[in-house]
Amino acid sequence: MRVPQINLASHARKIRPRPALALAHDKGAVPVSQARKSTSSSQTSSKGQEPDHLSKPKLGFMGTGWIGRLRMKALQQESLASFVAVYDPAPDQAEQAAALAPEARIVDSPEELVQLDLDGVVIATPSALHAAQSIMALEQGKAVFCQKPLARTTEEVERVLAAAQLSDRLLAVDFCYRHLNGMQQIRHAIDNGELGRIFALDLVFHNAYGPDKPWFYDMQSSGGGCVMDLGIHLVDLAFWLLGGGEVHQLHSQLFHQGQRLQPPYLQVEDYATADFMLDDTNVRLACSWNLSAGQDAVIEARIHGTKGGAAVYNVNGSFFDFRVERYQGTHRHVLAEPPDDWGGRALCDWTRRLAQASWYDARIASVLDVAHTIDLIYQR
Ligand SMILES: NC(=O)c1ccc[n+]([C@@H]2O[C@H](COP(=O)([O-])OP(=O)(O)OC[C@H]3O[C@@H](n4cnc5c(N)ncnc54)[C@H](O)[C@@H]3O)[C@@H](O)[C@H]2O)c1
Repeated sequence: MRVPQINLASHARKIRPRPALALAHDKGAVPVSQARKSTSSSQTSSKGQEPDHLSKPKLGFMGTGWIGRLRMKALQQESLASFVAVYDPAPDQAEQAAALAPEARIVDSPEELVQLDLDGVVIATPSALHAAQSIMALEQGKAVFCQKPLARTTEEVERVLAAAQLSDRLLAVDFCYRHLNGMQQIRHAIDNGELGRIFALDLVFHNAYGPDKPWFYDMQSSGGGCVMDLGIHLVDLAFWLLGGGEVHQLHSQLFHQGQRLQPPYLQVEDYATADFMLDDTNVRLACSWNLSAGQDAVIEARIHGTKGGAAVYNVNGSFFDFRVERYQGTHRHVLAEPPDDWGGRALCDWTRRLAQASWYDARIASVLDVAHTIDLIYQR
């Protein structure tokens, strides 16, 4: 039996060279089917060799509101998983999920869900629940795909990672913007030095509607406002694009309905800016809810290098349509344009990896950098 190493402190802040997005775990791929064999002999097919449903992980869904069901649909389109069970305390939400996946049964509690014969659990609940629910699932030996944020603080993230290492199960977070068409090309261009030294990133995420569910505005349920909801994607992109780094000289300002907030922040922010150095790259970040933006959303990442630039930005205020471009002086080269059905790719990627190998993948430890930066933005 393999003995997992619990060594979060060894997480290398510089994580280059980087493997491709969807590579299987380098400890050696052990198919889900094989992992199942050790726990469930009843899964064996009549031929006495592999399970009947080889390579389709059995999943349970915890929290089947807006994004939970959207992600279920994406998985269904790819036909990558068996939908075993759903849990949501709101009966209408659970029923809508079960209508999407009639083969799935509705269960009565998170505890019941994680004790089922599942390979993985997909979590899409209010943000403050993510850490405890992830740990609960991991402790039952289930792999976890969790919506962002994985947890509210670095300390919570460390506890989730420790649980994933101890159970040796695959853990991933829905940082979906990494998966836009064209993003991987920008990342390669940065890695290969084609853009020169990246000295600045300008990152923006304004949601002019703001969330439509009350829990987002309640600190106990959300853990924070627009930084926790939207800024976290921008922080993740900064680390992901640059391949890691140390944060220093961070300054942040948080507002609520135009009033500057002071730490400790007890009210959720609806506008925030942060300026920091990520090694020798200046990162400027702005995010908001309910801003008069003149359109539904403004979502941008602009990358400035000594030899060239790149940008990803939303088109016509859309939350879903993006253009990805590279720049050389006044010249522009389009890498990707709408349509691009990118929303479910992170979940599909995790599910494919799970079908190959259910073990812990140490690359998830980059979420510590993101959580640490979020802590600094909240000045704690
Ligand atoms: N990756 C992204 O870009 C992205 C986009 C949207 C939302 N999200 C994240 O997804 C999560 C859910 O957001 P949403 O917009 O779908 O919210 P939502 O309110 O529509 O869905 C949350 C669901 O969780 C259920 N729930 C509440 N308590 C629960 C519990 N104890 N156990 C199980 N389920 C419970 C609710 O009944 C609800 O159906 C949030 O953390 C949010 O930040 C991520």
